[in-house]
Amino acid sequence: MTRDRPVIAIYPGSFDPLTKGHEDVVRRSLCVADQVIIAIASSATQVKESFFSVDERLEVIKEVFLSEERVKCLIFQGLLVDFARETGAQFVIRGLRAVSDFEYEFQMAQMNRELWDGFETIFLTPDQSYSFLSASLVREIAILGGDVSNFVSDPVLKKIKEALG
Ligand code: PNS
Repeated sequence: MTRDRPVIAIYPGSFDPLTKGHEDVVRRSLCVADQVIIAIASSATQVKESFFSVDERLEVIKEVFLSEERVKCLIFQGLLVDFARETGAQFVIRGLRAVSDFEYEFQMAQMNRELWDGFETIFLTPDQSYSFLSASLVREIAILGGDVSNFVSDPVLKKIKEALG
């Protein structure tokens, strides 16, 4: 089958910080898309206190995916559907770790489709070794002095260490 345009997926989130679970989902996304845009929301729906600024997150995510030219990282404001339209993305990728993620994800997927008919969400499950992993737990463990080196890659770890002194 030939396609007249590349398949572009958008992978939105807070990524505060990017975990190995996020990275795993990005790499899996490349099996279903030609290009993946990691979209850092500067205003997330669920208000959380941020650890890294969006610019710091952008910088570190770019470093992690430096050698993967099919992955781009951008910051967005406002509605995901509007940003997706601007970038030419045809669908959104979200990671599903456990049943507990499902309700929130299902609601967002349905609402996004309500806002833009035909905008599909594809759910990908990370490797099971990351099923317990979340950015909020990484933040908490790091702030309390725990070792997060198994949960984030080296550029992220370096940034965490710098931030915590
Ligand atoms: O990593 P998160 O915090 O679970 O990601 C949530 C995110 C950023 C995907 C969601 O808050 C979002 O899409 N925000 C952009 C604003 C928007 O479009 N809101 C309506 C969602 S249905």
